[in-house]
Amino acid sequence: MVTLTAPAPAFMPSFIAAMREGFSRDTLRPETAETIAAVEADPGAYLASFDNPPTHITLPDGSQGEAVPATMLWCVEGDTFLGSVGIRHRLNATLEKVGGHVGYAVRPSARGRGLASAMLAEGLTWIAANLPLTRVLLTVNAQNPASIRVIEKNGGVLSGSVPHLWHPGETALHYWIDV
Ligand SMILES: CC(C)(COP(=O)(O)OP(=O)(O)OC[C@H]1O[C@@H](n2cnc3c(N)ncnc32)[C@H](O)[C@@H]1OP(=O)(O)O)[C@@H](O)C(=O)NCCC(=O)NCCS
Repeated sequence: MVTLTAPAPAFMPSFIAAMREGFSRDTLRPETAETIAAVEADPGAYLASFDNPPTHITLPDGSQGEAVPATMLWCVEGDTFLGSVGIRHRLNATLEKVGGHVGYAVRPSARGRGLASAMLAEGLTWIAANLPLTRVLLTVNAQNPASIRVIEKNGGVLSGSVPHLWHPGETALHYWIDV
């Protein structure tokens, strides 16, 4: 069992170290020295962004998209940040194609020991307790076998696929999980 908790100041040094290690807040966009430096310069502002989220986000193609209500949960051990589960409370036209309700990532040094599978299971438990959803959509790049395995281990049922919106030539698989 893993612990999922709200982002908090105690985890920020480890979170920044995780980004330096290769963890990215957005699986579609790697961090850069500049994006990491911005969080490090004002970790409080980054944490505050979860309480006062923007109404719009910049999509990978640079266009503006609607930001849906969302909850960020971090997987931690003591003060060590291990990974994140991002839960979108509802879908929109973009998330119906790529993104879905749930996204997750594990810092590189913590991969391969079952964390993502346990984090997704805990995330689904959180959804069942907090949101009026009976099933959730997860989308995964067809070239991400580890994530496909994580979803299938959590009961994901493949419903179809679409051309990836942001990665030409790649495919996003659609899985639904009953919660
Ligand atoms: C995908 C990711 C979350 C997996 O995290 P993890 O903690 O290593 O995952 P787990 O250890 O819980 O499980 C991985 C499973 O995939 C399997 N796996 C790993 N690499 C694999 C590969 N190349 N081919 C097939 N299966 C693979 C593992 O054996 C394991 O299955 P098992 O439990 O049956 O042995 C992690 O690699 C990551 O953060 N990647 C970047 C972000 C990302 O891709 N997020 C998902 C977006 S949909």
